[in-house]
Amino acid sequence: MTAPSQRRYTFEEYKDTADWLMTNTQHRPKVAIICGSGLGGLADLLEDKTAFAYTDIPRFPTSTVQGHSGELVFGRLQGCECVCMKGRFHFYEGYDIQTVTYPVRVFFLLGVETLIVTNAAGGLNGTYNVGDIMLIKDHINMPGFAGQNPLCGPNDERFGVRFPCMSDAYDRDLRALAKKTAEEQGCNGFLQEGVYCMLAGPTYETIAECRVLQTLGADAVGMSTVPEVVVARHCGLRVLGLSLITNKVVADYNSKEKANHGEVLLTTQHRTQDLQRLVSHLVSKLR
Ligand code: HPA
Repeated sequence: MTAPSQRRYTFEEYKDTADWLMTNTQHRPKVAIICGSGLGGLADLLEDKTAFAYTDIPRFPTSTVQGHSGELVFGRLQGCECVCMKGRFHFYEGYDIQTVTYPVRVFFLLGVETLIVTNAAGGLNGTYNVGDIMLIKDHINMPGFAGQNPLCGPNDERFGVRFPCMSDAYDRDLRALAKKTAEEQGCNGFLQEGVYCMLAGPTYETIAECRVLQTLGADAVGMSTVPEVVVARHCGLRVLGLSLITNKVVADYNSKEKANHGEVLLTTQHRTQDLQRLVSHLVSKLR
């Protein structure tokens, strides 16, 4: 019989990275924010910033996709100690799924309690408009169905239990707070709440695939977020997820539309201010 595959990273490796960061900054963040495609502007709003290029952080992976610059930024957002990932790691870039989620365990070891994830996503729900912001209420982990779950392999109890619950992955109270904040900030006209489905990418979906996802009850589709959320929930972080609907998926054989990264980045530019305002006001209310 062959032995089970080894852990990709040891507890000591995550701890090395966390210790190095704590030695190099005075900040002790309670909130971590993962900025999706073109949404790194949130990190620029931090006050009293300390920024580290991913390439300078021991053991940290580095980012390659256009629109991601690869910096970990510490500072205060509306008085709340935060750390922002400006640029995330995607499975489609060729990282294994445990490398994609490496920063989340580092955040846990830094003392972070809340993870806010943002992403760009395609709208599957026919009532959604380009530019809508979707609060993620649940997810479908397609790579997980295919055996790509970051928690596969030996479990380390110092992070969490062997079989973590995922039915409460997206914190109900944080979603309520986000809705209240959206109303106060005049964002409720374009706020949605729905199910995010992750596909591995990098191809956009075929028409038949979009129809499958719609049938499954997914409202938005993207190529990120779910692995980070799984690892965050495993180690007990509260999670809030926000998808910016950057395009409508093509689910009609007569359509001449084509999904493309340029359109994704363009929509992101248009809504980025609103999303930043929503997140920063929300963070100021976190207790
Ligand atoms: N599909 C998958 N990922 C995406 C999309 C999409 O249409 N838009 C932004 N990210």
